[in-house]
Amino acid sequence: MTRYGGTRAVVVGGTAGIGLAIAKRLVEGGGTVLLSGRTPTHPAATVAEVGSGAHIVHADPTDPATIPALAAAVEERLGRIDLLFVDADVGLFAPITPVTEEQSDRQFAVNTKGAYFTVRALLPLLNDGGSIVFTTSSTSAAGTPGTGVYAMTKAAPPRRADRHGSPDEVARVALFLATDATVTTDATDATVTTGSDGRTALLGAGAHRPRPEDLEPSTHPVEDLHHGRTKTIMNATVHTDATTSPLFRPTRLGGLDLPNRLVMAPMTRNRADAEGVPRSIMATYYAQRASAGLIIAEAATPNAVGLTYPHIPAIFNRDHVAGWRRVTDAVRAEGGRMFLQLQHGGRVGHPDNSGFTPLAPSAIALPEPIHTPDGLREAVVPRAMTLDDIRSTVADFAAAARNAIDAGFAGVEVHSANGYLLHQFLGQNTNHRTDAYGGSVAHRIRFTLEVVRAVVDTIGAERVGVRISPGVPANGMAEGDTEAIYPPLVAALAELEPAYLHVVLADPDQPVFREIRRRWTGTLIANPDLGWGRPLPADGGRHAGERLLAAGADLISLGRAFLANPDLVHRLRIGAPLNPIRDAYLMYTGGEEGYIDYPTLAADRDRVLASTTH
Ligand SMILES: Cc1cc2nc3c(=O)[nH]c(=O)nc-3n(C[C@H](O)[C@H](O)[C@H](O)COP(=O)(O)O)c2cc1C
Repeated sequence: MTRYGGTRAVVVGGTAGIGLAIAKRLVEGGGTVLLSGRTPTHPAATVAEVGSGAHIVHADPTDPATIPALAAAVEERLGRIDLLFVDADVGLFAPITPVTEEQSDRQFAVNTKGAYFTVRALLPLLNDGGSIVFTTSSTSAAGTPGTGVYAMTKAAPPRRADRHGSPDEVARVALFLATDATVTTDATDATVTTGSDGRTALLGAGAHRPRPEDLEPSTHPVEDLHHGRTKTIMNATVHTDATTSPLFRPTRLGGLDLPNRLVMAPMTRNRADAEGVPRSIMATYYAQRASAGLIIAEAATPNAVGLTYPHIPAIFNRDHVAGWRRVTDAVRAEGGRMFLQLQHGGRVGHPDNSGFTPLAPSAIALPEPIHTPDGLREAVVPRAMTLDDIRSTVADFAAAARNAIDAGFAGVEVHSANGYLLHQFLGQNTNHRTDAYGGSVAHRIRFTLEVVRAVVDTIGAERVGVRISPGVPANGMAEGDTEAIYPPLVAALAELEPAYLHVVLADPDQPVFREIRRRWTGTLIANPDLGWGRPLPADGGRHAGERLLAAGADLISLGRAFLANPDLVHRLRIGAPLNPIRDAYLMYTGGEEGYIDYPTLAADRDRVLASTTH
């Protein structure tokens, strides 16, 4: 299989310079290329130079009549295309005083307006996931004397395409810029790099044959682009495009390099065996989602009494560790990173599930029925924890954290949210204690702090995250004094310096979110409030996530969108449609169905192709 076999590309301005060099590389690699030029004076010679995979079309981007003709020629000869490389330009260099209006108009007509309308005409022919590459110019950044108008015209097209194009159209393709790092006129070398998805995605172009010492090798230039790095690749500085969302910027978390800022939120899926040991389909499920910047694996119980529902995984014995090890190995093999959430259910539990009367801060029953193997059952009144219970539970969290590291997790998330045990200590309606763990805010936050401190002491702060859900009424919670609880809790947690704080159903307009951001200087993961109980928005939460990043969050966690889209990161990056959640009842039960059978875009495409060719 040749490197660009099957790739169909249009190179506008491909009869000279960088465009010509790119076209040659594509054809050498087995691609099919249509070149357009304003003055293709020797088409036969150009075809001979580029190779037999090339078609040449005369098109002048400043002549409105030739643009539709170009689109028609592309459709006729190539059909749909994977790559549009826009390199048409004219440079009329002069210092500012002698620049004439004619010179200026000519450059804007070709480099800006022409590029824009050419892209507009060819956009409908671009395959989803295809790429547009604009060559820009280092003069835009360098301020080279005498290039003022030229620099402006070369800087404009990608931004105009981004801002004024229909977002749907522009979002479904990746938009890249390639710019020559040196200002010379004779392009003799170019590199074409295949994208991580196996398709041509990025072209770096060199304005002269690079000397070895000029090279800054990159084994993953496309990934570098996606991650927002500006790199010199084969002597060509490649800038990220104007459409790249901050969601795709890499970052660090504790000791981990994250390739993007999308976190898979912890989601209970009830697929462990009856003893809480992860089954092999869990390895498949998480490995499918390894492109997440970070996966936070579903709630696992640190001891037997903390079990909430049937088939919840656990992490307190050797079998659990071995089962999770298979999961983390599978995720690591796919290049992913993973934390495990530690959850004690407290009063959210049932003797039919765990074999124990649940433990809670106070003997106050969950005001709703609970799932058991025999269906929904009335909740039982939990036993109020003694001081010994508290001490041993803290120790169980610490031991579970140690187990999680032994099982290959990069860290653990302490679950102090959503109405489970730690949250029950925080809330007024669930904690009626009169000892050092109840009453005042300082007392009610004590248990969470003790658990986090014990876990930090056991595995190191950089491997610990904490999840909170201020004001979220899950599992019958009514905190009563949300605004009073969280500022001191967050400030005290900050002193323990865990790797991150994870806020559930975060809303950048809420004062409590802003207050948390103010007090928490470490990494903040925000789980956007997408309207719990309402259908997912069509973008899966991308827009809400970007708003939270703008409001100071560092990472964005999404739940249901990851559940239904194993390749969510790729889909969001290119603006592809998302799979809807199928069969909501399969969220929490069942086997492979509704679990590991959500298709990727590539699988969908293959399925459609297969069904149309049979
Ligand atoms: C099927 C399912 C299971 C969940 N299980 C957990 C869990 O184990 N621990 C937790 O903290 N949150 C859990 N959540 C809440 C999610 O982490 C997340 O906060 C919530 O789904 C909102 O995010 P979304 O709108 O992106 O889905 C679960 C959500 C869903 C849909």
